Amino acid sequence: MGYQAKFRVWRGAGRPDETITATEADGALHDYEVEVNEGEVVLDVIHRLQQTQTPDLAVRWNCKAGKCGSCSAEVNGKPRLMCMTRMSTFDEAETVTVTPIRTFPLIRDLVTDVSYNYEKAREMPAFAPPPGVEPGEYRMQQVDVERSQEFRKCIECFLCQNTCHVVRDHEENKPEFSGPRLFIRAAELDMHPLDDRADRKEFAQAEQGIGYCNITKCCSEVCPEHIHITDNAIIPMKERVVDRKYDPITWLGSKIGRR
Ligand code: F3S
Repeated sequence: MGYQAKFRVWRGAGRPDETITATEADGALHDYEVEVNEGEVVLDVIHRLQQTQTPDLAVRWNCKAGKCGSCSAEVNGKPRLMCMTRMSTFDEAETVTVTPIRTFPLIRDLVTDVSYNYEKAREMPAFAPPPGVEPGEYRMQQVDVERSQEFRKCIECFLCQNTCHVVRDHEENKPEFSGPRLFIRAAELDMHPLDDRADRKEFAQAEQGIGYCNITKCCSEVCPEHIHITDNAIIPMKERVVDRKYDPITWLGSKIGRR
C-alpha cells in the first residue's frame, strides 16, 4: 500500500550546517509530501519529487543498483547510498531528511564536488610490473589474488571519505590526508607480488598521511560493499609502516637487502 511520506530535502548552494542560519538564497531544508509505494528506496522518492514538484532538484545518480557509487547522500544524518536505502526502514510517520554529503564542496542541492578524491588518486604512483614482464605475462598465486580482492570491490561512492573525521570537519587536513579510499588502494598495491614501483609503505606514511588515522573505524561502518577498510587495509598497513621504521631486525634486514 502506498502512502504520503514527509521528506525534508536540502535545496540551494549553501551548506546544511545548523550553526549557520541559512537564507533561501544560500540554501535551506525544504519540506515536501511525496507518494511512496511498496518496495521503493529513497532514490525513487527523490526521483518522484523531481517529476512532480521540483524539476530543478539537482541529484547525482546512475545505476540505481548500488554499483556506480553516484547517489551518496546523508539520510537522516547517516552517510548512505540513496538507491540502497529502503523506505521500509523508516516509520511512515517519520520525516526523512536528505542532505548532501558534507566533506566536499557543495555544488547545489544534493550534488557535491568530489574532485578531492580524484586529485588524491592521481598522486598515487600507478601499478608497475617488474622490467621485462609484459601485460599478459603476469603470473601470481591465487592466494595473492584473493588477498586483495576485497579492496577491488570499492565502488568509489566516497562515503568513507565523507565520514572520516580527519577531513569531515577539518578542511585544513585535506592536503596531507588521502583518506580511507586511497589507503585501501595503497594496501592492495602493497600486497601485489608484481608491483615493482614505489615503496607503498613509505608513500602511505610520508605522502598519504596514514598517521592521521586513529582507527575510529567510521569508514568501515559506512562502506556499502562491507569492505573491512580499517581491519584489513589500514591496520596491517600501519603495522608494516611501524615494523619498517622501528623494528630493529626488520630495519637491519632492509639495510642488508639494499646492498
Ligand atoms: Fe578515518 Fe577510517 Fe581512520 S574513518 S580515522 S580512516 S579508521
